[in-house]
Amino acid sequence: MDKFNIAIDGPAGAGKSTIARLVANTLGFVYVDTGAMYRAVTWKVLSSGISPDHTADVIAVTDRMDIRLAPGENGQQVFVDGHDATAEIRSAEVTGNVSQIAAIADVRRILTVKQKRLAAVKGVVMDGRDIGSHVLPDAELKIFLTASVRVRAERRYNEIQDQRASVTLEQLESEIAARDRMDEQRKTAPLVQAPDAVLLDTTSMTIHEVVERILELCRTEVGGG
Ligand code: DC
Repeated sequence: MDKFNIAIDGPAGAGKSTIARLVANTLGFVYVDTGAMYRAVTWKVLSSGISPDHTADVIAVTDRMDIRLAPGENGQQVFVDGHDATAEIRSAEVTGNVSQIAAIADVRRILTVKQKRLAAVKGVVMDGRDIGSHVLPDAELKIFLTASVRVRAERRYNEIQDQRASVTLEQLESEIAARDRMDEQRKTAPLVQAPDAVLLDTTSMTIHEVVERILELCRTEVGGG
């Protein structure tokens, strides 16, 4: 099979975006980071002075805004209404509010339509929380990536050292655990492993090993790659 879709889900810090991007590059597929879309909505809401508690206003903003994803040199670039928000969507403020925004059913409905459209041509590696379970239930390959909370916090710690120099590993561990809880317990499309997804625990795997394992699954399960 030439073109097929791969869904990669899992909790924060499991390595989804790095791995999804590498798999997409190797296969010549398009990488779609759906977390960046929820972050883009959150950034737009906060920078418009809207409280995340004002659900109707949040939904109206989501409905109106234009989100574009483009491949960049250091990962995916995100444009919101023409503004390059790539760096701003990774701020601590956005990270602290995104799970609340992502729990709003109408926000998810609007973004899910966009995500399905992006994958309609096939040849997409899409990462998120509900891709295999809701957005692309027919994806030819579904991966659920996880790792221990400690290891995920350590990875985030190394990633964000220059942005939040004062943050401690313990603080990140509790932030990640809190975000996991919110993502798993929300009513609409919670973080869950789809029944037909392959579970990969990356706690003691290198990025290279995970990518190789997924490429092998593309060959054995889908007959592609
Ligand atoms: O992967 P990330 O940390 O950039 O995701 C940001 C938030 O968006 C995360 O708290 C959960 C939410 N999210 C979601 O609910 N559904 C998705 N498909 C992707 C992300």
